[in-house]
Order: sequence, then C-alpha cells, then structure tokens
Amino acid sequence: MAASALLSELSGYGELQALADELRSASMAELFAQDPQRAVDFTLRAAGLQLDFSKHLLTRPAMTQLLELVERSGLQMDVAALFDGVHINNTEDRPALHTLLRASGSHGHEEKFAQVVAARALMKQWADSLNDGSRKGYSGATITDVVNIGIGGSDLGPRLVTEALKPYHGNVSCHYVANVDPADLQDTLLDLDPESTLFVVCSKSFRTEETLTNSLAARAWLLNAGAGESDLDKHFVAVTSNLQAAADFGIPADNCLPMWDWVGGRYSVWSAIGLSCAIAVGWDSFEEFLDGAAAMDEHFRSSAPGENAPLLLSLLELWYCNFLGAGNHVVLPYDNSLRRLPDFLQQLTMESNGKRVNADGKPLSYTTGPVLWGSAGTMGQHSFHQLLHQGTQLCPADFILPLTTHTGMSGQHRRLVANCLAQSRTLMVGRSREDAHAVLLQRGLTEQEARRLAPHMAMPGNRPSTVITMASVNPGSLGALLALYEHRTFCSARLWGINPFDQWGVELGKEIGTQILARLSGEPGSGPMDPATERLMAEWRDAQA
Ligand code: F6P
Repeated sequence: MAASALLSELSGYGELQALADELRSASMAELFAQDPQRAVDFTLRAAGLQLDFSKHLLTRPAMTQLLELVERSGLQMDVAALFDGVHINNTEDRPALHTLLRASGSHGHEEKFAQVVAARALMKQWADSLNDGSRKGYSGATITDVVNIGIGGSDLGPRLVTEALKPYHGNVSCHYVANVDPADLQDTLLDLDPESTLFVVCSKSFRTEETLTNSLAARAWLLNAGAGESDLDKHFVAVTSNLQAAADFGIPADNCLPMWDWVGGRYSVWSAIGLSCAIAVGWDSFEEFLDGAAAMDEHFRSSAPGENAPLLLSLLELWYCNFLGAGNHVVLPYDNSLRRLPDFLQQLTMESNGKRVNADGKPLSYTTGPVLWGSAGTMGQHSFHQLLHQGTQLCPADFILPLTTHTGMSGQHRRLVANCLAQSRTLMVGRSREDAHAVLLQRGLTEQEARRLAPHMAMPGNRPSTVITMASVNPGSLGALLALYEHRTFCSARLWGINPFDQWGVELGKEIGTQILARLSGEPGSGPMDPATERLMAEWRDAQA
C-alpha cells in the first residue's frame, strides 16, 4: 500500500464533518420531497445487482464532497495497483491477486494465470469424478459425502456458497467442520459412512491448529473403521500452499491442489479452497460463480467513481463510521439461503479492516472497521430489530433482497419481500409521538394512557439502509455480491490508509493458546501466568478430576 495521508488530514475532511453535523438530524422524507429524482438517481446497477441507497442521511452535495475526498486520496491508483499485482500487502511484501482467480484472461500475469488455469482443471476433475460416481473409497463404495475441514477463509466462503446454492447441488453432499470443539466433527461424522466419505483438508498454511486436529481425528475415524494407511489417498485431498506439511500428514502430492501466498485466506473462495463448493454445485455452476465475480471486478475497475457500486458502499461506510459516529454495520439477507452471509462478511471486513495503524505503521486517530453483524430476515425482526428501530445506537443496514425464490412458493416469498421492504421503510419513516398518541386514542385508550404510552411507541425514523436486489440467488449473482463486498472492503481500507491483506492481530492469541495448552497438558516450559488465568486453569483441572 502506497504511503498516504491519513483520511482526517485530507483537505475537505473538515467540510464533510460540518455537512454531516447538519445532516445528522435531517428528515429523509424531506430529502425525498426536495429531490423528486432521488429514488431513481440514488440507485446503481452493477453486474446484475441493483443498489438503492436513497434512504440515507446523504445529499447530492455531500456525495460530491465525498467523491472529491476519494480523488484526493489516490484511491484510483490503488485500484489499478490491486489489479496490476503491485505488492499492496506491504507488511508481507505480496500482491493480493484474488481477482485473477476469477478472470477469463491473464491481465498481464501470464505465469500466475497459467497456475490458476491448471488449478481449475484439477478442481473440475475432482468435481466431475465425484459427481459421476467414479471415485471409490477403500471398500470400493462410491464416494457420496465430502467433508471440508478448514476454518476462517478455508471454511466460511465455501460453506456459504454451498448453502446458498442448494438448488444447484449435484450428487455429492458436502459438509463442513471447522471448530476444534470435538463436537463439531463428531456431530458431522455421526450420519456418515467412512467407506463413502472424502475429506478435503483446506488450509493455506497447513499449520492451523483446528484444521490439523480435526484432520487427525478424521484419519483415526477411517483407520478405526477398517481402512488401511495405504487407503487414505482415496479419502483425503488437501488444498494448501504447504505441500511438505500435507505430505508429512500423509496426503500425497497427487491429491494436493494448490493455493498461493498472493491470495489471502478470506479472499480465497474463488481458488481451490472453493473445491468443496465446486463439488457441491458442479463445475459449470462454479464457473458461473467465478464469472459473476469477474463481472463485478470489471465494473469496479472501469466505472467512474460516482457510478461505482463497491466505492459507493465504502463511502457510506466511511460516512457513518467517521462522520456520523456509527461503530457497527448490520447486514440482513432476506433469503434463508444467504443466512451465512454475515459470518462470511465478518471475517472479510473485520479481519481485513480491524486495524489501528495505517499501512506505514502510523497510529490512526479515527474509527476503522466497524463491527459487522446480522442474520437472515425475518428472524432478526423478532429479536434485535427493536434496537435498530428504537435503540440509542446508529446501525446502518444493508438489506439483501433476491426478488424471486427457488422454492416455487411465490406466495410465501411475497411475505418475505413485504417484510424486507417494510423494515427498510420503517427505519426511515419511524413514528412521531403525535402519531403514536393518535393511534393509541383510536385504539380506545384514555387520553391519560395515550399520553403515558406514546413516548414508548414513538420511533425516531431517519435510520439509514441500503437495499441490494438481484433477480435470484444464483451462482452469478452470488459471485457478484461477494466481489462487491470484497471491493468495498478494499476501498474503505485504502481510504482509511490501512493494509487490508494482513492479520497480525490473530497471532498473539495463537501463541498464548499454545502456552496454555502445554500447561493444561502438564508439560513444563512456560512460567506462571496472570492470577485470573492461573485460577481458571486450576478450575479446569478440578473439573477433569
Ligand atoms: O488465524 C486466522 C487465519 O489465518 C485466517 O486468516 C485464515 O483464513 C484462517 O486462519 C485459516 O488459515 P489456513 O487456511 O492457513 O488454515
């Protein structure tokens, strides 16, 4: 990442703060009344998705100033650097070329693209041979189930895609095990037959504790069931950049698919890390998924800033985070198949942008990386939407709304759509105290009761939301949606001045975890820890007795 000025040092930042202060208490209804074209003009189309950002505390002048800030930040040069393979992951001295994984041409990266094409061919071979039933296990039984063992980026993306594209599934069932809690593996294996199960050990580093521990347990499960050591190659595939560690585990090179240091884990679903979802949906659908992302890449690369969907979402993120004081962002997919989307986006955005120094190591004086959370609609309406509507915190929301359903139950789906539109509108319009008072009187309450309850019923409204629509959840639209959020994450990182492609903050916890495990295992080596940890370790020891 190029050395850059801090966001707050860019000229125009102060003016934007003043504009935000004015808009903080703006009425969205008035913004619509003053600007009859608002609903139409505050809508963007990109790669089959449509983004309606009209229900925001934002005006055309504020948008113009935000775009000027973008120009001064040098973001456009960084977008070019991303695609050109410049080492923008400066702390690890690497490019971040996940866009090449879904490209249909080399874009000047001949050698790397040849590796991508070769990896795609391997993925297709595995996906085809599993779906046509030609892969057999140690007893000669057809492989019917695949268990992906991985965590973080080696789990969340493939799991999301597999679940979201259920109507596209072929002949193989794919399952996911991530947690080092033995219950995760145990519960998954309960319904599976060792003779017909293949494990995909998905780990870029092949060093991740959870993945290695679960893989060893899976190996033992197969051996206990009667498979011999020499049969394991029929039941284990690895996706990794650490071939030696995979070989040490017992997975031969012929059963390894590649991963590269120029792809970050949370940006890797497009690579062989996505093998399990390619198996689940079949190669043709997986290619459509890649094509959807490539279409978003093209949009991102070539659209003017004012018409650029990922940039627009990033500007909204900055607007609320840095100018209007929101520390969180809620994502609400109104489609049950996308229920894993918030989990995926949590890693994408929070592992990328949860940083407190800029790319040059300078401490940042402003908020970065808001907390991202959410769940599938309509479930949240009956749990946390109360806080969205009447709580004291500002929670900008993204509603994701596929317009049709694969279920064939369009009448019921209409209810889902109505709920989504109603939530977005309700956040905006709210309910005044006077209105609440009148409604209570109409319901037959006394004047005194109506006056007492009206403040509880009143809702401030003017709470921002974006509505992202698509024809349906299909491989192409899903690819475009994930790439949209990837590029949004990149734009925000760059505007904050940070490197979104490293994750140094996860290291210390792993080191301390290793020390504590040694202590719990009665091994010598690490000295006494803090009193609280010592007491909790003693409590654990007592519980074992
Ligand atoms: O610990 C964090 C992390 O490194 C993530 O960035 C990554 O997606 C995950 O662990 C899994 O890593 P690996 O694929 O190397 O097992």
